[in-house]
Amino acid sequence: CGIVGYIGNQDAKELLLKGLEKLEYRGYDSAGIAVKNESGVHVFKEKGRIADLREVVDTDVMGHIGIGHTRWATHGVPSKENAHPHQSASTRFTLVHNGVIENYSLLQQEYLQDVTLKSETDTEIIVQLVEKFVADGLSVEEAFRKTLTLLHGSYALALLDTENEDTIFVAKNKSPLLVGVGEGFNVVASDAMAMIQVTDQFIELMDKEMVIVKKDEIIIQNLLGEKIAREPYKALIDASDIEKGTYPHYMLKEIDEQPLVMRKIIQAYQDINGDLAIDSDIVKAMNDADRIYIVACGTSYHAGLVGKQMIEQLAEIPVEVHVASEMGYNMPLLSKKPLFIFISQSGETADSRAVLVKVKELGYKAITITNVPGSTLSREADYTLLLHAGPEIAVASTKAYTAQIAVLSILASVVGKKADLDLVHELGIVANAMEVLCDSKEEFEKMAFEYFTVTRNAFFIGRALDYYVCLEGALKLKEISYIQAEGFAGGELKHGTIALIEDGTPIVALATQENVNWSIRGNVKEVVARGANPCIISMKGLDTNEDRFVIPEVHELLTPLVSVVPLQLLAYYAALHRDCDVDKPRNLAKSVTVE
Ligand code: G6P
Repeated sequence: CGIVGYIGNQDAKELLLKGLEKLEYRGYDSAGIAVKNESGVHVFKEKGRIADLREVVDTDVMGHIGIGHTRWATHGVPSKENAHPHQSASTRFTLVHNGVIENYSLLQQEYLQDVTLKSETDTEIIVQLVEKFVADGLSVEEAFRKTLTLLHGSYALALLDTENEDTIFVAKNKSPLLVGVGEGFNVVASDAMAMIQVTDQFIELMDKEMVIVKKDEIIIQNLLGEKIAREPYKALIDASDIEKGTYPHYMLKEIDEQPLVMRKIIQAYQDINGDLAIDSDIVKAMNDADRIYIVACGTSYHAGLVGKQMIEQLAEIPVEVHVASEMGYNMPLLSKKPLFIFISQSGETADSRAVLVKVKELGYKAITITNVPGSTLSREADYTLLLHAGPEIAVASTKAYTAQIAVLSILASVVGKKADLDLVHELGIVANAMEVLCDSKEEFEKMAFEYFTVTRNAFFIGRALDYYVCLEGALKLKEISYIQAEGFAGGELKHGTIALIEDGTPIVALATQENVNWSIRGNVKEVVARGANPCIISMKGLDTNEDRFVIPEVHELLTPLVSVVPLQLLAYYAALHRDCDVDKPRNLAKSVTVE
């Protein structure tokens, strides 16, 4: 689920492979590159990792133009055949594609009845259509444009033509794609990180635009062929931010960065008097709303659940939290004055974007909370609140989750103006507490070994805010260690799921909320009576001598920021103990740009 392209004077191979390595974090299951030189287009592809692709790339093939792709399977299994690039029947055209073409079988029936397809992918239809329209007499540019007008769905595309010496044809709809500008070369990339080593100047592309990229010229057009002028912007990514440094895994680095991220967020949201401040238009939009709808997926959805509590308690506005993929076709009955908050680390998640498009059609206002300035969800919403977490590379989200909660707490508190909460001070205490936890890694490594080395499943239970953190803790463990884990409301377990408890089943229980401290401990007793192996993580002040770990005390509403850290570290070490690939878990993609 990433694209790169290069056109210039250097050998393209290594640049493409390096670029794809930088996109590895997005998750993929096969990869490929195509390099063009005088003798034609040379395609190399392989199932598995970029390292596997490197093995099959012929180092003798040199070329100054090329495109590359990492694929996260949607139509067709992960395999060498289904990997991109795909070529037209005559091999004149070579294409990489991210996204999903919804009407691909209709297009095949209508235009390509007599073409034998080589793969099971929707992508091959696109490249075959270009070839067909060229055979019908159109120029390549016209054929590409005609093809684009026929496609329904999402795409980011890069196309090579063996008969066109010095051009990469590029187009985008709904899937992210940027053109990077260099001196004497230009590049194409799904995100700036892939090419930040060679340029920091990027041009954003809008949906339904097509671009002709040459080594010293970039021509942007709409689908009518009209030219569009657009200046590049400077991508503010520090190349060193996307290096692992001395860490064995990005995930560990990102867990450790959380105290720093908290401090950065406090700073970023302080006005000159040191008070927390949010853009007054956003505050007004919140105050004008009679109900807030939070929309997100995965970890961001879990942050949204915590955000609901914060907004309801501090700002006193009712909040509903929705999973984006469900809300897309199953919109709840909306209140009279709804306001939408989209939470997305990447700002590119297609499920969330689909809802945003609907919300805008309905004429409602939306705020996006994201880590990526200029991302699709940020551009298309009315307002953006940034996470300031720095690039998150590990597929399993950690620092973005805590950053999302911190930003939501600031939003809730600025709107709510509660005099008795000094949030700057409280978030400072959170940062210190996170540091203490990050310094206790050895203990979590031991605990992970004890609880998760042999088990096939695990449960995380909590009440109130702790319940939401349990959902996230279970997700972390599932994502990277493949242990079947479930987060449960402490009181609900007995209504069915308790049937799964066996001798030794690990139960992680969070106890950071005073009003439910004794009831969650009662729930632990219920499962211990059935053989479970309990691991109670409590907060100082609420602890008892049966607890396995006690986290430092923080403001009750901010406990998720701290209690999640042990769960992140337990998941990390569980994955290590089980020899799993922490940063690149199987089947997952960091940024899911398909619905
Ligand atoms: C993918 C990732 C998850 C992430 C979710 C939402 O499924 O694997 O880690 O939480 O997308 O991503 P977003 O960028 O919208 O927060």
